[in-house]
This record gives sequence, C-alpha cells and structure tokens, in this order.
Amino acid sequence: MISVLFICLGNICRSPLAEAVFRAVVTEEGLEDRFRIDSAGTSGYHVGEPPDRRTSDVAARRGVMVDGSSRKINREDADSFHYLIVMDAENLKNVRRLVQGSNGRAEVRLFREFDPEAGDDLDVPDPYFGGADGFEVVHDLVERSARGLLEHIRERHEL
Ligand code: 4NP
Repeated sequence: MISVLFICLGNICRSPLAEAVFRAVVTEEGLEDRFRIDSAGTSGYHVGEPPDRRTSDVAARRGVMVDGSSRKINREDADSFHYLIVMDAENLKNVRRLVQGSNGRAEVRLFREFDPEAGDDLDVPDPYFGGADGFEVVHDLVERSARGLLEHIRERHEL
C-alpha cells in the first residue's frame, strides 16, 4: 500500500481537491487498491468543516466530487505516510519541521514539482481570499500535478 497525504493551510480548498483529483486519476488507472490517499491542513482554522463551496463547485463541473472534513496534520501522519505532498513553500517549511521530530521516512515534496508546465514558481496559489478565477486556475494546476505525481510513483514503485 502506498500512502499519500496532500497538505495545505486550511484543508478546505487546495488539499481536499488534490486528494479528490489524485484519487480520480488513480482510479482511472485501476490502481485504487494500491493507495491510501488523504489530506490535512497545517492549521486548525477550519477543523471539522467541509471543503469550500467554491472548490467543490468548480470540481463538480469537471466531474470530480470533493468531500471530507478538515483536519490538522499531526506527528502520526509524518510517521505513517510515504508521501507528504505540500501545496506551497510555507506548507513545506511547516511540514519539514514536523517531519524532523518524527520517526518516518516520508518523502516531502511540493505538488507542482510534478506539474510538467510549471516554471520557477512551484506554489499552488492559495485561492481562499481571491476571486472565482483562482479556483479554476488551481484546478488546472492540481490536475496536471496529480497526473505527474502518479507517473512518478508508478516509476518508483514499478506499478
Ligand atoms: P487552503 O485555503 O489552504 O487551500 O485550504 C485556505 C483556507 C482558509 C484559509 C487560508 C487558506 N484561512 O486563512 O482561513
């Protein structure tokens, strides 16, 4: 079983979307039994809340169902997941700090390292305080990165 945790700040916009899109791509490839996929936030701002409506609306229009409720990442996550996939540089800093105190050997990576169209900017931008366009942009980035990540994992694990 390969375990992948997607991480952003609030766990209501970017990471629940990344989780849902990655799961859809994995399922498309018939690999769903090989994966444990989840998401979490570095903050506890929205714990227990469902995904942001703007995220789920854009995803629904593209045929992806985003669900779950927000939770904060903890040390056990750092110990147990193989891949900790973060959305931006700030998440990276926070997750690295958490991993330093853990026993895990998780691979901590920026999601857009797997976006073949990414340039120098490897952040999935936080859409929370912006307009509706931001959510469309985020969805595009997430979709490309999800496919790239699965390709990376397939090569690595000979799936
Ligand atoms: P996310 O977006 O990290 O993609 O879930 C955000 C959600 C909430 C806040 C910031 C970003 N907030 O500050 O409450």
